[in-house]
Amino acid sequence: MSPAIEVSSLTKSYKTSSVALNGISFEIQPGEMVALIGASGSGKSTLLRLLSGLMPANAGSISSIAINGRVIQTHGKVAADIRSSRAHVGLIFQQFNLVDRLSVLTNVLAGMLHRLPLYRTLLGFFKDDEKRLAIEALMRVGIGQCAYQRASTLSGGQQQRAAIARTMVQQAKIVLADEPIASLDPESSRMVMELLTEMNQKDGCTVLVSLHQINVAIKYCPRTIALSHGDIVYDGPTSALSPRLLRELYGVEADELLKESTTTTLDATSVSSTSPEAHSSLNLANVY
Ligand SMILES: Nc1ncnc2c1ncn2[C@@H]1O[C@H](COP(=O)(O)OP(=O)(O)OP(=O)(O)O)[C@@H](O)[C@H]1O
Ligand SMILES: [Mg+2]
Repeated sequence: MSPAIEVSSLTKSYKTSSVALNGISFEIQPGEMVALIGASGSGKSTLLRLLSGLMPANAGSISSIAINGRVIQTHGKVAADIRSSRAHVGLIFQQFNLVDRLSVLTNVLAGMLHRLPLYRTLLGFFKDDEKRLAIEALMRVGIGQCAYQRASTLSGGQQQRAAIARTMVQQAKIVLADEPIASLDPESSRMVMELLTEMNQKDGCTVLVSLHQINVAIKYCPRTIALSHGDIVYDGPTSALSPRLLRELYGVEADELLKESTTTTLDATSVSSTSPEAHSSLNLANVY
C-alpha cells in the first residue's frame, strides 16, 4: 500500500523571509496519528498548507508530495488534478473556517460539495438523505441541537466540532489539522483531540495535527515529527521525547513546547525537571 503522505526534499521559502522548510522528507503510513510540533515559526503551517495543495513549494526545487500514492505537487508545481486528490483531505484550522452567516448544517453539508454535480453545488441544493448524514455527523460530535443555528452563534469549541463534522461528511481519508486547539478552553480542547482520535481509530483516518505543546502530543499521538527552523529535528515515538531530549533539540525554544497545555493535567514539575524520574513520568500511561 502507498504511504498516506509522502514528502521528499520539500523546500519552501517566502519572498519576505528566510527558508521556511529546508528540504524535508518523511512518510506517514495509512492509519497513523502523528503530531507535528515546533516552536512558533518552525514551519508547521507552511508544511500543512503545502500538503493540502493550497500552495506550491519553491519553483525549480526537487520537492515532491504524494497523497495516497498520487503526486499532488512536484518541482514547485501543483498537479492539474489537485481537486480530486484534495477531495479526501480534510482540513481543520485554528480559526475553524466556517461561513459565519450560514447555518451550522449548511457548513457541514459543504463537506459533500466535492462529490455532488456542479448544478447542485451552485444551487446549494441538498437531498434529505444528505441532510440526514450531516445531522448524524453533528450528533456524533455532540452538537446536533445546533444544526439550524447560524455558525457565528456557536462557541469556539462548538465551531471546531462543526468543522470536524464537515470533515466527517467529506469522508476524508486524511485529516490535516493546524493547531486545532490553540484557541479553545481545556474542555473543548479535550473534546476536539478525542474526536480526532476517534476519526483515526474508528474511521481509519490518517491524522497529522500540529500542536504547540508536547504533553498534548504525548497524550494523543503515538508518533511526533518535530520541526525547528524548517528542519525535521526528530521523527519517532512521542513517548521518547523527554524534556531533556527536547532541550537538546531546541535549546531555549524547548520551553515553548514544554509549557503546560490546558488539555492535560500533566504536573508542571515533571515537565520542567530533567531528572530520569521526571522523564519516566512523561510516559504515555502516566500523563492522564
Ligand atoms: N505568508 C508568509 N509570508 C512570508 N513569510 C511567511 C509567511 N508564512 C510564514 N512565513 C514565515 O515562514 C516561517 C514558518 O512559518 P509558519 O507559519 O509555517 O510557522 P509555524 O510553525 O506554523 O508557526 P506558529 O506556531 O506561529 O503558527 C516563519 O519564519 C514565518 O515568518
Ligand atoms: Mg502555524
